[in-house]
Amino acid sequence: MNNHARLFYALWPDEVTRIHLIRLQESVVGRKVRPENLHLTLAFLGNQAKSWLPTLAKLLDKLPDQRFTLGIDCYGYFSKPRIAWAGPTETPKPLLELHHSLMHELSTAQLPFKPEGKFKPHITLARDANCPTGPFAPGIPWRVGKIMLIQSVQVKGSAIYSPIREKVLA
Ligand code: 2AM
Repeated sequence: MNNHARLFYALWPDEVTRIHLIRLQESVVGRKVRPENLHLTLAFLGNQAKSWLPTLAKLLDKLPDQRFTLGIDCYGYFSKPRIAWAGPTETPKPLLELHHSLMHELSTAQLPFKPEGKFKPHITLARDANCPTGPFAPGIPWRVGKIMLIQSVQVKGSAIYSPIREKVLA
């Protein structure tokens, strides 16, 4: 039996935001992320021993719990992996603080993981994608209300995301 799990923390969109994101996907050429999988990754933890799960789930209690608005107002492109995404032109302070707090708690817990470079908040819209163009108007005012700890399982080449725990923001 597999005693490891592929894990990540993410901001999870509400249904209205998800519908806006699906509209953004319409003008992107590529292998689109399934609507139910659209999210913004806060930290990708990779494969971790399942014995970490209680600690990682509880860690959510230590993060800031105020709702905030995240303006999704531009397309972006990671050219090497050919990922088309949408995100904020400027990262708002509450999101930076949330990310910083999560990194601090993971480090305090001594989880064996190495953060991947600078935090670049983005919602992947499509993979193997062409480059989408520029800013769009009006932006999507995502009222961020939920942080999730997710396990990702590959089934026949596609990712199935199972929530381990969610934190609802006040
Ligand atoms: P992406 O959307 O930019 O591909 C689950 O795989 C989530 O973790 C995805 O949102 C993915 O980001 C993110 N992630 C970050 N680094 C990753 C990596 N090295 N391998 C797989 N997913 C990664």
